[in-house]
Amino acid sequence: MAQAPESLELPLNNITDKGLDRDCTTLSRHVLQQLQSFSPDAQDLSALMNRIALAGKLIARRLSHSGLMEGVLGFTGEVNVQGESVKKMDVFANDVFIAVFKQSGLVCRLASEEMEKPYYIPENCPIGRYSLLYDPIDGSSNTDNNLSLGSIFAIRQQEGIDHGEATDLLSSNGRKQIAAGYILYGPSTMLIYTIGKGVHSFTLDPSLGEFILTEENIQIPAHGSIYSVNEGNFWQWDESIREYIRYVHRTEGYTARYSGAMVSDIHRILLQGGVFLYPGTLPNPEGKLRLLYESAPLAFVLEQAGGRATTGMVDILDVVPKKLHQRTPLIIGSPKDVAKVESFIQNGH
Ligand code: AHG
Ligand code: MN
Ligand code: MN
Repeated sequence: MAQAPESLELPLNNITDKGLDRDCTTLSRHVLQQLQSFSPDAQDLSALMNRIALAGKLIARRLSHSGLMEGVLGFTGEVNVQGESVKKMDVFANDVFIAVFKQSGLVCRLASEEMEKPYYIPENCPIGRYSLLYDPIDGSSNTDNNLSLGSIFAIRQQEGIDHGEATDLLSSNGRKQIAAGYILYGPSTMLIYTIGKGVHSFTLDPSLGEFILTEENIQIPAHGSIYSVNEGNFWQWDESIREYIRYVHRTEGYTARYSGAMVSDIHRILLQGGVFLYPGTLPNPEGKLRLLYESAPLAFVLEQAGGRATTGMVDILDVVPKKLHQRTPLIIGSPKDVAKVESFIQNGH
């Protein structure tokens, strides 16, 4: 009987335990491993992360075909509660999260920067103790140019009874987040998350339709060369921010990177170090970024990776919002670089 060619045998022989493990560490399994438990709470969190991953896959699939489909790109003609022109992808992605969590039975309330009021799922409320806060598409201006985009999410435990005003969200700070992270739609789709036990990244394997663990316990460098800010706003900033930018201009070793999507810029900084800034401006003293959907989730991730996030005066995770769509100035990244900006804001140098 003819022997099987050696090359056919090789792939099986070469599978090592490590390789097999790497191919099999899915997001839901990772959450359970992190919690070292199969308790109902652990199962909930694992299921919640799995639903976020499903939303990410649906959005990534749409984006990958967007140039080939009618009616996917461009503006809707509407203006959202933030006063920003809405893109069709913003609406699609917002609805994807709602659809995915309607079926989960776990989330009673979703709050997004695209919706004036939280979206309630009454049928989930008797058992649904969780709220999802999210920015469905971060970096909307990149959608029509096939450039990197993101989604940002946070999960909080609902506290007390909500009579339709979501008041519990307005009496707690970002340290109440039980999970947070982002999905980055780039050359590959990645999901980065924390449940308060370090920061871990997953990459979508389109052939499997699964997010597979790519890096565990990511640590941000203490200092990096990147500064990421929209310098077009230079003359609208406070003098202290202008002084900081003059400092990086005259100091060797800094390099500017700004993509128009903070998820993308902050992901680069998470891996390579540096600082991202969106300070207040003359017309908008609180800046542009939304505390509950953008700044607080990313602050949780960066702090868990050894980084920092501040308004310049107070840590982002300590800010208690006065309103749902509250904005905050944001300085986020490597601890030494954030401290440098902070020193310019607080001490003038
Ligand atoms: P969004 O698309 O959710 O409105 O967020 C865009 C944010 C952020 O991702 C980006 O860094 C920043 O706005 C860009 O704003 P500027 O064009 O004002 O720099
Ligand atoms: Mn955004
Ligand atoms: Mn957005």
